[in-house]
Amino acid sequence: MAYKHSDATPWTQKTRNTVSTNFFGTMIVCEALAPLLKTGGRMVTVASGSGHLRILRSEDLRREFAGADSALTVPRLSELMRQFVTDVEAGTPPTVSAPLPGALHERRGWPGHAYGMSKLAQIALAKIYARELSARGIASCACDPGGCRTDMSSHSGSRTAAQGADTPAWLAFQPPSEITGRLFFDRAEVGW
Ligand SMILES: NC(=O)c1ccc[n+]([C@@H]2O[C@H](COP(=O)([O-])OP(=O)(O)OC[C@H]3O[C@@H](n4cnc5c(N)ncnc54)[C@H](OP(=O)(O)O)[C@@H]3O)[C@@H](O)[C@H]2O)c1
Repeated sequence: MAYKHSDATPWTQKTRNTVSTNFFGTMIVCEALAPLLKTGGRMVTVASGSGHLRILRSEDLRREFAGADSALTVPRLSELMRQFVTDVEAGTPPTVSAPLPGALHERRGWPGHAYGMSKLAQIALAKIYARELSARGIASCACDPGGCRTDMSSHSGSRTAAQGADTPAWLAFQPPSEITGRLFFDRAEVGW
């Protein structure tokens, strides 16, 4: 889910709701369903180009999230996302509907973009699951569908929803070893 730019909901609330739905919601569903996957199964996360690592302002945070390929764990990722929300809440008056320049979350290296942050965390989660599920022969990857004309984008994207669904559907049929732990756009691996 994503709030419209014009939405007057307080930014603290937008941040908590966006992170709760997009990150914690995804995590809860994955944790519930992963035990049911059979060897050779694939988990494809529909993330977004707005979840690029470069949206993090601090080198330390970039390094920690990039650790999704090697050492980051789901409990630590969850802790980081709770910290993002509490830093936004501690530095933003409850009546303000947009991030304030120079506020606490910004000084701590977080972006002023809750949707992008939630998508970045989804990509990290997909990479962690790739490591955790590899012993069972299960793949986990993430993709960016590109800007699509859907309700979420107020029908402003350059692609149809079917075009956006092409890469996620294609990924679901690729050999697990060729997709796991990777991020894709238009059927090709891209950098994070
Ligand atoms: N559209 C784009 O340009 C674009 C670009 C990059 C990534 N994406 C990603 O692509 C995926 C699909 O998005 P879309 O463009 O197809 O958007 P969409 O047509 O607006 O669909 C969003 C879906 O999320 C559900 N949803 C919305 N709020 C929710 C909530 N609070 N709790 C649970 N479910 C909720 C909606 O359920 P209802 O139908 O019941 O409302 C709907 O099924 C998303 O992960 C989005 O981040 C989209």
